[in-house]
Amino acid sequence: MFNIESFDIKLNTDYLGRNFIYAEELSSTNTYLMDKESKQSINGTVVLAEKQTKGKGRKDRVWQSAPESNLTFSILLNKDKLLFRNSNLINFAAALAIAYSIENLYQLKTELKWPNDVLINGKKTSGILIESTSQGNKIERMVIGIGVNVNQNSFQGTFNYPPTSIKIELDRNVEREKLLAEILNNFELLLEKIKKDKNTIIEDWKTKCNMIGSRISIAENETEKYGIFYDVDNEGFLLLKTKDGIEKIHFGDVGLG
Ligand code: BTN
Repeated sequence: MFNIESFDIKLNTDYLGRNFIYAEELSSTNTYLMDKESKQSINGTVVLAEKQTKGKGRKDRVWQSAPESNLTFSILLNKDKLLFRNSNLINFAAALAIAYSIENLYQLKTELKWPNDVLINGKKTSGILIESTSQGNKIERMVIGIGVNVNQNSFQGTFNYPPTSIKIELDRNVEREKLLAEILNNFELLLEKIKKDKNTIIEDWKTKCNMIGSRISIAENETEKYGIFYDVDNEGFLLLKTKDGIEKIHFGDVGLG
């Protein structure tokens, strides 16, 4: 059972998580915050569910997570529209917040995989799904959904990337309340950093991505592309070097290839 009081004591933010909704079960925390019917409109609202019956992953995949073991939560941003200009940078900031939190609290080395996965020992421990609603061509509401495998003991099924949890890598249970507070504390600081200087977020993200310079594959729908992970541009898109030149990649699953 998630202890809201222990979480609250460790939360050090101005607005992220100050409106906190705890649910035993939801179809998906993202779907809940995206739905206007939920009547959630406070900037920085966080909703955490112990169990999701239709947890969503990127590219219409299912996000599987053992109930009451992990962190499955979403954050609503609807005030600071400056931030919405580049959702890639928000992806990077969220991935960095998770990576820094895991390193600070548990001294586990993390690595980032484009666009927003957090890996420990080459296996995926966290994923991020950003969704938004627009009025005309302006984003009104952005929902940042985060799944972190925390205390799950094992994973069954098929995954497009091998999964792990903090518990598996550390060989002990960890306190979810402390980890969630640390992620939100770091994320709020990184969102401020985006507003001041977006290039530093990209540089910070690049220092934790070991794949830059390596031969990679990019799977997008039915096609697979191969090349060298050349760089990330100033909007956060991946630059792939192939025999035909440099190609900008907007979506896709990166693998070592
Ligand atoms: C990915 O495919 O890597 C993204 C996974 C995102 C999962 C989280 S869990 C909380 C939030 N609610 C959802 O339905 N999905 C996101």
